[in-house]
Amino acid sequence: MRDRSWHAPALTPLYKTSVTRSPQRAPLSFATTLSEETSPVFGNDTLGPLDNDLIHNFASDPAGAIGPRIVVYGRVIDEMGRPVPNTLIEVWQANAGGRYRHKKEGYLAPLDPNFGGCGRTITDENGWFEFRTIQPGPYPWPNGPNDWRPAHIHFSIFGHAFAQRLISQFYFEGDPMIWQCPIVKTIPTKEAIETLVAKLDMGATIPMDARAYRFDIVLRGRRQTLFENRMEGL
Ligand SMILES: [Fe+2]
Repeated sequence: MRDRSWHAPALTPLYKTSVTRSPQRAPLSFATTLSEETSPVFGNDTLGPLDNDLIHNFASDPAGAIGPRIVVYGRVIDEMGRPVPNTLIEVWQANAGGRYRHKKEGYLAPLDPNFGGCGRTITDENGWFEFRTIQPGPYPWPNGPNDWRPAHIHFSIFGHAFAQRLISQFYFEGDPMIWQCPIVKTIPTKEAIETLVAKLDMGATIPMDARAYRFDIVLRGRRQTLFENRMEGL
């Protein structure tokens, strides 16, 4: 059964844009089309060698992007703990100063010419994934008079069809800004928020190179990761 108390309600006025984005009427069901149920299918040959290395995949300087170097790794598993293989994971994020490479970005922090902010990878046969990046910075956003997003990385995972796409964002263990954020505060329980916090893993750190954060993604069940595009639950 879906646990609807696990996910944030669609209408949460302290997160200002939820007022206009949340449904005003009861949802309607539509039959899915064949293409929604069967495609797209991604394979490892779809990806380039640097697609999961955000430090270098946009850089013209071989030294790469500026910022704290990290490895993010984890597993995609289902409610029974079984691995979910061959699943495309896409990530996008601000640079170390908290600025996005986007034409509508309005924050005064500078762009890093060697950082694009996008990457992707596919889970292996045991559900594992890994990417390298720089830790993003926090940034202010126009919500209340002084609201800041905690450092976070947006991610999406594809199943075997567009209709199965799930989208969320994860945070970093120990960041006090997590508990200040109006978007995070829409999530009803601390336990659900903790499913979105990547844990520092010194055991997986690469000495003299990058610290490691572990982030597991759970599909369905009591330990399910919270997905922002499926507030009603999977
Ligand atoms: Fe963001």
